[in-house]
Amino acid sequence: MSSAITAVGLRKTYGDRTVLDGIDLTVEAGTVFALLGPNGAGKTTTVHILSTLVAPDAGTVTVAGHDLVGDPDGVRAAIGLTGQFAAVDGLLTGEENLRLMARLRHLGARAGRRRVDELLARFDLVEAARKPLHTYSGGMKRRLDLAMTLVGSPKVIFLDEPTTGLDPRSRQTMWEIVRELLADGVTILLTTQYLEEADRVADRVAVLHGGRMVGEGSPAELKSRVGTEVLVVHGPDGKVVREIPTDGTADGLRRALADIDDVRSGNVSVRAPSLDDVFFALTTTPAASTREHR
Ligand SMILES: Nc1ncnc2c1ncn2[C@@H]1O[C@H](COP(=O)(O)OP(=O)(O)OP(=O)(O)O)[C@@H](O)[C@H]1O
Ligand SMILES: [Mg+2]
Repeated sequence: MSSAITAVGLRKTYGDRTVLDGIDLTVEAGTVFALLGPNGAGKTTTVHILSTLVAPDAGTVTVAGHDLVGDPDGVRAAIGLTGQFAAVDGLLTGEENLRLMARLRHLGARAGRRRVDELLARFDLVEAARKPLHTYSGGMKRRLDLAMTLVGSPKVIFLDEPTTGLDPRSRQTMWEIVRELLADGVTILLTTQYLEEADRVADRVAVLHGGRMVGEGSPAELKSRVGTEVLVVHGPDGKVVREIPTDGTADGLRRALADIDDVRSGNVSVRAPSLDDVFFALTTTPAASTREHR
């Protein structure tokens, strides 16, 4: 497999705050890569660097075979980025905005019209096509935003929190679209706060914390790194009060049980680790992996 995105040694400082302190990442062509991390970890900054909007202080980046510094136009021509929304016109209709984008992307009049109609249909925006954008709901705007991204048929797509604030049905639609794009051979780098979605849709997951990548791998690899079983303590009302990852051995389980010596009531169960556990284990310092629920 060839890589669609390669970044080596990315650094970015704002004032005296080091946001990215040497980030390496590789995204294989035709895969979904999910970037996770707590608020302010630098996910959006990373996406903005990879998509030429922000210049890194150091590091090299290649996107779709184009060098970020040597050939930024080549990178821009090959990518799509959501969140360009501020640049579109709220007084124009959805269709007009898409047409505008088709012109910016140098599609001919005919090809442009065809692409716009296709995207309006695909994103369930046919009915709203002739209405001004400022009347759209959040979910409709998000769908139009993604449609705008796809006008130029990009090979690499950056989605910064594409499903935040969407209702479950719109979220589902968004993930179906991601899967279709993938089937078309597109490469996707996305950020998300919804770990179960990353688990479902991503081939590889990377966790950004304290300016560095603190974990990277397939969802299954990352989960197995946290441990094999998680001891869950339920209070008398059935609510989860504590979760302790174990290594799956009898000794590990005994140690976890010793950890709950103070628990006098309620029930105990064991479950497989989730990506939430990975996130907490990797982004909590020091390695305090036990999660208290209050
Ligand atoms: N233009 C800027 N000027 C100064 N500081 C900035 C700028 N852009 C981002 N930062 C800072 O860089 C850090 C990382 O921000 P970034 O938006 O990349 O985080 P994020 O991981 O996307 O967070 P979130 O989950 O909240 O979206 C934050 O501390 C932020 O305040
Ligand atoms: Mg962000």
